[in-house]
Amino acid sequence: AIQRTFSIIKPDATARNLTGAINAKFEEAGLRIVAQKRIHLTKAQAGEFYKVHEARPFYDELCSFMSSAPIVAQVLEGEDAIAKNREVMGATNPAEAAEGTIRKEFALSIGENSVHGSDAPETAAVEIAYFFSGLELVG
Ligand code: CMP
Repeated sequence: AIQRTFSIIKPDATARNLTGAINAKFEEAGLRIVAQKRIHLTKAQAGEFYKVHEARPFYDELCSFMSSAPIVAQVLEGEDAIAKNREVMGATNPAEAAEGTIRKEFALSIGENSVHGSDAPETAAVEIAYFFSGLELVG
């Protein structure tokens, strides 16, 4: 079925001018960018977005990193968009990511891993609503 998923191009990637290269990977995979904006999160805003990871040892480092430079927040649409996006991103740890994936090609480490993508329809809905209003989603 046609789905929408939430995506972030992370600070390590925007800093290295990889926004276009990453978007090309999404579009080549058949994902349509139906919303997109470049923003610089505060640490508190990053903390709210990643609240599910609050108890993890890397939470503070994650929130500092995600607020260290601009991100590009996006909504991607397509057939099985959540699974397709996860396939194009590759494994969270770039050392384990498959050949040709975004993280294999561009990620620097498990933290500075270039992209975020929703892991399920429920989280996609919450994450999209955190960044975008319905009016900003243009299929
Ligand atoms: P993301 O999909 O954005 O969701 C949570 C993020 O936490 C994850 O990608 C990683 O970038 C980050 N993360 C996971 N494990 C670690 C770790 N061990 N150290 C630092 N960051 C991590």
